[in-house]
Amino acid sequence: MFRAILFIFILLLPHICLAAETRLRFVTWRADHPELWDRAIADFESQNPGIKVVREVGPHSSTEFHDLVTQKLKNNDPEMDVFFMDVIWPAEFAAAGWALPLDRYFPPAQQAKFLHAPIVANIYQGRIYGVPVFLDAGMLYYRKDLLEKYGLSPPRNWLELVRQAKYILSREKEPGLVGFSGQFKQYEGLVCNMMEYILSNGGSIWDEKKLKSTLHLPSAKEAVRFVRDRIIGEISHRGSLAYQEPESLALFTQGKAIFHRNWPYAWEMSNDPKKSKIASRVGVVPLPEFPGGKSAATLGGWQLGISSFSRKPELAWKFVAFMTGAEMQKRIAVFAGRAPTRKDLFRDPDVLRKNPQFQSQFETFIRAVPRPPTPVYAPLSNIMQRYFSSAIAVPNSDIDELARLASRDMNRVLDLLRERIAP
Ligand code: GLC
Repeated sequence: MFRAILFIFILLLPHICLAAETRLRFVTWRADHPELWDRAIADFESQNPGIKVVREVGPHSSTEFHDLVTQKLKNNDPEMDVFFMDVIWPAEFAAAGWALPLDRYFPPAQQAKFLHAPIVANIYQGRIYGVPVFLDAGMLYYRKDLLEKYGLSPPRNWLELVRQAKYILSREKEPGLVGFSGQFKQYEGLVCNMMEYILSNGGSIWDEKKLKSTLHLPSAKEAVRFVRDRIIGEISHRGSLAYQEPESLALFTQGKAIFHRNWPYAWEMSNDPKKSKIASRVGVVPLPEFPGGKSAATLGGWQLGISSFSRKPELAWKFVAFMTGAEMQKRIAVFAGRAPTRKDLFRDPDVLRKNPQFQSQFETFIRAVPRPPTPVYAPLSNIMQRYFSSAIAVPNSDIDELARLASRDMNRVLDLLRERIAP
């Protein structure tokens, strides 16, 4: 009899253990430094006995990851507790009732410890929906050794960048070397890249007050034409039309690109001799501008949000607080070269020893320009992605007509927003 009971107990043991363990589901993307996130989760679990963080790893691309997370939210999926949010999502998630307002956990006194722009990006109609983990801003990376070899200083404007690239290419005569690598695939990263050209030519993507697209205006079209004719047409190869961040960075770290546009993490990746052939031969400066314009970096970055459908919001908050705390942000900065969102960390000796470039980049972080926050960002971005992609992919694309159509379509979406806001 005793044996039979023991046998049944052994059979049921895994189930008994599972019941005793509380699971928290965290939806995240494929990370550049998986070991960093593995360790963070292991530390959280060991500090919180009985808690198991179950990770669901989604695609790297912001656009594809958005599809995954919103699909779960549209289904009111109670399984997902915590998720990463791109800086452009909080307004959409808040308006849809998908993200939990975090004000009672994350009051203004705590928010004040963070940089202003990422906090603003998480606020919708006076409430806060996410806690920033790291900040992104577009930068220009370059081959210090090649520029020095030809007595050139890093370019201040886009025309100079093209001239320098062509000059170096003509002298180096190295097959496979390109002048520039950026992110020109049809996805969110394309919007980030194109916005930097447009803004640095005095243009904008839409007028936030009038809620009208501005892509058909000359300053915006000129910038798009420049990318098509000079960046893609003269100093990149056509393969870059299929590149997101990882592919464009790989080209640079293999020593096959002179200039490279990317986010702050590219510094760590390109200077790590285990991952890069050009370690210690890399420079970084703010992105160039057009004559008469001003350098502009797109503000990016990722936040943690809690699903409104989570059945464990208190525990979810504990996890978010841990992952966005000073200790964790410091680790992310030191091991992965990601820019922190907590102000104090920009004065932290360990962070600065590993990332001396943060000091000169701080100005760029502070001035980075957000993509206009709105609950309808996703459909607007979709129109822009299609427009930019078809405008730059073909040498003789009809940019005037494509821009007119993109503005028309964007205005239809913006009209809906205007009706929603109208009293
Ligand atoms: C980075 C940025 C994010 C942006 C994305 C585009 O992940 O942090 O804001 O939307 O790149 O690829």
